Amino acid sequence: MLDADMLDRMAPLYERVRRVVPPIEWPSFAEEIDAILRLKRERNAVILAHNYQTPEIFHCVADIVGDSLALAREAARVEAEVIVMAGVHFMAETAKLLNPAKRVLIPDLRAGCSLAESITAADVRLLRQRYPGVPVVTYVNTSAAVKGESDVCCTSGNALHIVEALGAPRVIMLPDEYLAQNTAAQTRVEIIAWKGRCEVHERFTAAEVEELRAEHPGLVVLAHPECPPDVVAAADFAGSTAALAGYVGTHRPARVVLLTECSMSDNIAVQYPGLEFIRPCNLCPHMKRITLGNIRCALEDMRHEVTIDPAVAVRARAAVERMLAL
Ligand code: 13P
Ligand code: SF4
Repeated sequence: MLDADMLDRMAPLYERVRRVVPPIEWPSFAEEIDAILRLKRERNAVILAHNYQTPEIFHCVADIVGDSLALAREAARVEAEVIVMAGVHFMAETAKLLNPAKRVLIPDLRAGCSLAESITAADVRLLRQRYPGVPVVTYVNTSAAVKGESDVCCTSGNALHIVEALGAPRVIMLPDEYLAQNTAAQTRVEIIAWKGRCEVHERFTAAEVEELRAEHPGLVVLAHPECPPDVVAAADFAGSTAALAGYVGTHRPARVVLLTECSMSDNIAVQYPGLEFIRPCNLCPHMKRITLGNIRCALEDMRHEVTIDPAVAVRARAAVERMLAL
């Protein structure tokens, strides 16, 4: 039996997402959201959600939303006792590194990342032997162990800035081959890349961009820099998920496509009802492991707590903090 009072309480939240959440799905979401909002108060918890989370998480239970860089920055400032990461495992690890006294929970331990899986700490040590003295810039989409072998971290939002701020003629940039190539195209710094790929963004092709433009006249194409370089070259603008959202907010393109994870368009479309979003998106199966159901369980049972070996954490934290300082 549906609780009418609960549905009344949740009605203002449905207004936020009604354009992307069908009415038939809402009652079960509403029940979970109501429980999560109560549990957050009881546990003194906050929920950080990446831009790829589904709208009912992003718009209805999250306290802080953003790209990897924003989530890292905000994680360092959280005052609540508990942080629930609605995102993938490396994001939860970064939050723990930056706020070690807090309990950081990830609702599903299987929420990984193909980039984080593509490289180990031993691989980084071998690269250092091969290129002595060359600084290592590591994308945040890596394990704490890999960060711990690095000089500094970067995100897609600051990669170019970090590479140039080091003042070195050559840097090793790990592990995303395409982010490294897309960054190399914008700088004179020589970049040595690794062979990692994002399984979501590597699937977009330049031919697809051409077809989309032919099918949808006037289309503005926005791409994430984890896409292959020819896709980025064929796009009108490339940037982190926050930069893509910022572009839509500033330029208000009448017809736009975001070459990135599917939920991005849903989350932005909610904010800009007048714009037409074309959606040939790709799903990230790791981001989609996080649901209202497992966020609720995480808060009920205080699971799954993220821990990092203290010796690794000291070095990994230094690489993330150096990024934030730069
Ligand atoms: P940003 O949100 O930092 O652009 O990263 C995208 C991504 O793929 C995170 O998993
Ligand atoms: Fe990793 Fe790509 Fe998924 Fe982001 S979208 S979590 S980079 S697999």
